[in-house]
Amino acid sequence: MTIKIRLIKSTVISAVFFLCFAQTNAQNTSVLNTDMSQSIIDKHIYGHFSEHLGRCIYGGFYVGESNTKIPNTEGVRKDVVEALKKLKVPNLRWPGGCFADTYHWKDGVGPKAKRPTIVNTWWGGVTEDNSFGTHDFLNMCELIGAEPYLSGNVGSGTVQELSEWVQYVNFEGVSPMSNWRKENGRDKPWNVKFWGIGNEAWGCGGNMVAEYYANIYRQYTTFMSNSEKAKLFRIASGANSGDYHWTEVMMRDIPHTMLEGIALHHYSVIDWGKKGSATDFSEQQYFQTMQRALKMDELITKHATIMDKYDPEKKVALVVDEWGGWYDVEPGTNPGFLFQQNTIRDAILAGATLNIFHKHSDRVRMANLAQTVNVLQAVVLTDEEKMIVTPTYHVMEMYNVHQDANYLPLSISGGDYVFGTDKLPAISASASKDKAGLVHVSLVNIDPKNSKEIAIEIRGGKYTTVTGRILTSAKLQDHNTFEKPDSVKPIPFKQASLVSNVLKVTLPAHSVVVLEVK
Ligand code: AHR
Repeated sequence: MTIKIRLIKSTVISAVFFLCFAQTNAQNTSVLNTDMSQSIIDKHIYGHFSEHLGRCIYGGFYVGESNTKIPNTEGVRKDVVEALKKLKVPNLRWPGGCFADTYHWKDGVGPKAKRPTIVNTWWGGVTEDNSFGTHDFLNMCELIGAEPYLSGNVGSGTVQELSEWVQYVNFEGVSPMSNWRKENGRDKPWNVKFWGIGNEAWGCGGNMVAEYYANIYRQYTTFMSNSEKAKLFRIASGANSGDYHWTEVMMRDIPHTMLEGIALHHYSVIDWGKKGSATDFSEQQYFQTMQRALKMDELITKHATIMDKYDPEKKVALVVDEWGGWYDVEPGTNPGFLFQQNTIRDAILAGATLNIFHKHSDRVRMANLAQTVNVLQAVVLTDEEKMIVTPTYHVMEMYNVHQDANYLPLSISGGDYVFGTDKLPAISASASKDKAGLVHVSLVNIDPKNSKEIAIEIRGGKYTTVTGRILTSAKLQDHNTFEKPDSVKPIPFKQASLVSNVLKVTLPAHSVVVLEVK
């Protein structure tokens, strides 16, 4: 009897021990199936945004052809073009933003000396001389190798104006607009596919209610013609962050034969009245920025759920065509120019956001970081003839291996990043397999104080080698300056090993790592 009880007791103890041990393992070792992919990470989620705002276009992309020593191609800076080519920018949105709904494209074509000037009422009230217009932008996209994404003026333009813009840039045959394009020096059309039908129609684009805008959208798109080489990808002005009613109305009231995408704008801003400095911030502000950034997952999930109801086949894309961090402008700069520095905080924000886009790649098929040069979460900063790239640039460059690769679901439990009584998941991760069979894993340790140990069992093939790069720095606030342009840059990563298909990684605090496994 005693022996029997002892036997049961020891069996129970062993079972409990086994369960605990198994659970510990399960918690620490994630699984990555490299042969199970259900969606492609569309390269267009790596898009950028360039508005006539502050020094994004003038001084940033464009310095004009005369009176400058800065090397340029038809007025477009060569250094910026080279930097963006390395980034593999897939698409570039222009001319706004809020500016788009004040922009009359005909002001920006033809001889530059004859172009009218206007006032940029949204951004600093400065004079806009229209020297950078349609030809300049579309030719610049060709230099960069990016597809253009034109934002049409719906707020203060006309149906005819937008319809003629489409004809001007896309029609090959004889027509008033294509003839005018030819007279202005461009024979072949540019075949622009991506078109935004207004911007933030609920706000600077006309303060419309969703139901009214949906009708306006139907009217405008009716007169935008496809051409032989450019089937239009029409994007409805989308919701502001958590305005789910907006998405519901777009999906309900616009026939899906007239709609390829719906936009969504979400900025990681702590408080619109108290945004805080881009470089001089506390851990609390860092935590709040990351809270806002990670909110993107919930926003996409909820907007996508509404879209699923009307479009279970996921034909209509969710296009996050404005995202990024938004802080106070740099001291002494024009408040209307939105010029801010860019730190490790922004690198973490970018990495975590891109991981979220990857996770939702079945629905999110396009996105645009705001904005490319000298504005908000820029990848490039310029000062006269000097140019530097930011920590965000490096993340976008490290991550571009995911462009058009097969998304591989990956969920890692790396514990929490605890701040006071609040917490966030410490690790953000995603993975993909490219056409050559290389597996890329991107990992972000959001925790600013603690390193994290991660183990991933890789299934679906034999993998023997791991290499990678890391972006981090001593402090979250570290950034590049014109004096020290390389303070923050990626370096080879040595803290990863791959033995018997198990990938083990030690992720330093506040770091972004991209690994290649083969
Ligand atoms: O990116 C700056 C501004 O933010 C854009 O012009 C507008 O669309 C948004 O509100």
